[in-house]
Amino acid sequence: MHDTIPVILDCDPGTDDAFALLLALASPRIKLLAVTVAGGNVGLDRTLPNALALVALAGAPERPPVPVFAGADRPLLGSFTSEVRVHGVDGLGGVALPPGGAATAEVAADAIRRILRAAARPVTLVGIAPATNLALALATEPPLAAKVERIVLMSGAWAEGNATPAAEFNALNDPEALAIVLACGRPVVLVTLELTAQALCTPARLAALRVADGGRCLRAACDIQATVPLSRRFDGRGAALHDPCAIAWLLRPDLFTARDCAVEVDLGPGPGRGRTLIDRWGRTGRPANVTLAETLDADGFFNLLGEALVRLP
Ligand code: BDR
Ligand code: CA
Repeated sequence: MHDTIPVILDCDPGTDDAFALLLALASPRIKLLAVTVAGGNVGLDRTLPNALALVALAGAPERPPVPVFAGADRPLLGSFTSEVRVHGVDGLGGVALPPGGAATAEVAADAIRRILRAAARPVTLVGIAPATNLALALATEPPLAAKVERIVLMSGAWAEGNATPAAEFNALNDPEALAIVLACGRPVVLVTLELTAQALCTPARLAALRVADGGRCLRAACDIQATVPLSRRFDGRGAALHDPCAIAWLLRPDLFTARDCAVEVDLGPGPGRGRTLIDRWGRTGRPANVTLAETLDADGFFNLLGEALVRLP
C-alpha cells in the first residue's frame, strides 16, 4: 500500500479545471508528475498559459514546479468548440493571474508516454478535457497501458448533454479520443454530468469557501468561480463544479457511490455525436468497461475542497 498516488493530469483550464488543478496541487497524497494541456474550453493559446499561471500561483520555493506540457490544439477529427459563455474568452472568466513560467519543451502525448515508460509503479491518468492527449499517448504505444493504474475521466452523461441535447462537452469535443481511452484495457472511472450536478457550487457554498483563511490560490479559485454564470439547468441555484470531482474520487472515494457498467460513445456524424451510451441496468449484456460514479456527498466534497485549497499559498 503506497501513501501517494502518481498522477498525470490532462486539462483545458477552464474555470472548473482551475479548481481541479489547485485541488491536486494542494493534496500531498497526489504526486503530480505532469500537467498536460489541450484546447477545449478555449483555445490552447489560452489554456496553456492558464495552466502555467495556476501551477506558478500554487508554487512554493522549496518545491520544484510541476512540469506543464502543451498538447492538442484540435481533436483527432475537426476542431474544438470553445465554451466562452461559461469560461470567458480567456478561459478563467477574465480573472488575471500573474503569468507562469514556460511549458516544458515536449509534446504532451510524448511526455505521457515517456513518463509511463519510466514509471516504477503504475500511474493514474486524470482527464478533465477532451481526451485527445490521452488517446494519442495510448494509441501510439498501446503496451504502455500496462503502466496505467486507472484512468479517471470527467466526461459524458447518462441522460442529456450540456453541449448538445445528446452530448457532454468533453465527450463531444473528441468522441474518437474518448472511445480510444475507453478501449485501452485499463480501468476507467467516469465522472459524468449527473455526478457533477451534485457538486453544485451555490453562492452560499462559494461564500463559505471564501471565508476560510486562505491565500492567493483560494482567492483566485473563488474569484474565477464567481464569474461562472448560474446554470439554467439548476434554476439559477448554482453552477456544477465538474472537474474537481475527478480529483476528489482519488482522494476520497468514500464520498461517492458507483457501479460498473458498459459504456459506448456515439461516433456518428448526426445529432447524437459524442453521446455516451451508459448501460446502467445491464440491458445490452455487454461486459462492463467503466466504473460509473453515481452519487456524491456534496458537503463532504466542498469540505475537502476548502480544507485543501486553504493549504496553498
Ligand atoms: C466539462 O466541460 C468543460 O467545459 C469543463 O471544464 C468540464 O471539463 C463539463 O462538461
Ligand atoms: Ca475541463
